[in-house]
Amino acid sequence: MKRHRIAVIAGDGIGPEVIEAAIPVLERVAAKHGFELDLERLPFSADHYLRTKETLPEGAFRHLRDDVDAIFLGALGDPRVPGNEHARDILLGLRFRLDLYINFRPVQLLHPDLAALRGERRTIDFVIFRENTEGVYLGKGRIDGERYIAEEINTVKGVERIIRAAFEWAKARGKTRVTMSDKANAVPAHKVWQETFKRVAAAFPGIETEHRYVDALALELVREPERFQVIVTNNLYGDILSDLGAGLVGGLGLAASANLHPGRAGLFEPVHGSAPPLAGKGIANPMAAVLTGALLLEQLRHPDAARDLERAVKETLAAGVRTPDLGGGARTRDVAAAIADRLS
Ligand code: NAD
Ligand code: IPM
Ligand code: MN
Repeated sequence: MKRHRIAVIAGDGIGPEVIEAAIPVLERVAAKHGFELDLERLPFSADHYLRTKETLPEGAFRHLRDDVDAIFLGALGDPRVPGNEHARDILLGLRFRLDLYINFRPVQLLHPDLAALRGERRTIDFVIFRENTEGVYLGKGRIDGERYIAEEINTVKGVERIIRAAFEWAKARGKTRVTMSDKANAVPAHKVWQETFKRVAAAFPGIETEHRYVDALALELVREPERFQVIVTNNLYGDILSDLGAGLVGGLGLAASANLHPGRAGLFEPVHGSAPPLAGKGIANPMAAVLTGALLLEQLRHPDAARDLERAVKETLAAGVRTPDLGGGARTRDVAAAIADRLS
């Protein structure tokens, strides 16, 4: 039987709750579709950092780089680590050092009553391709007296590969339009996004292209989310737009993401964070983690299992088994059990 080695970093806050709820669901779908998950739980988290001063040791990094097929991560962030040092090393560290340049964040309306906006909602179904290795996230800059300086790095290589990934995905999925978003009217460096977008688009003549400044896009996403298919943007705008996207279709409890570099092991994490106010209460929504698991299985070439998981989540939503963030009264474990029940 095919086995996949999955490293699990449950992390902080609700991270462990949603990951441990999602794992039996993933195991169930794996058994149904004839493969196995070899799970290895790693302790890296705020607790571990506070206890040992260790964020992500070098040996563990090499192990994650060389020996696993995927990394499944809950969330990192803890009020006891206000500088977020451990998350910088673990989460951003893995994205950067594994060169996972694609942050793939789907936004899909899974049930009509989850739409945040009034009015007749048709399908909301778009994907954000967030550049994941550059921008302000590199943390370059300095504090010079009263000047706090942050540098935003945009390289031709970095911009080109994320734009190309967006077009290739669009083409493979039969999508007809790619929207690129930047702030070139205020940030001169964003010229590279404009130029690169034009150049890459020329190789995809069947796909319509459009550009939106990010402020205008934020408005248009709220007004008319149905018209978007594929959005490609920089690291920071992708972070912000992905929470906006989640908000359009039910919130962070449903939003999945994958950090990818084609041909390499990926890092799979819900869009949400550690949600400190919810931690330990047993009511966090595990659906984002389960849907993140679907992205993981898709990457491991189990598309049927991935679709099956998505179907089971949709049916669970339709049956009204929902955590409080979606207006329901179910607990984390009830929702996970309801999803698993629909996979037998
Ligand atoms: P957050 O995503 O953790 O939570 C914001 C709010 O959204 C929560 O208070 C909760 O009301 C709701 N929410 C989020 N996930 C939910 C779920 N699964 N079920 C039900 N409700 C849910 O964002 P935040 O409060 O800005 O950040 C908290 C910490 O998490 C910070 O330390 C932040 O840096 C970190 N963070 C980590 C990641 C990550 O590890 N990928 C992502 C975002 C934020
Ligand atoms: C996300 C998170 C992270 C980010 C934080 C925790 C650094 O918000 O994955 O969306 O900004 O990328
Ligand atoms: Mn975010």
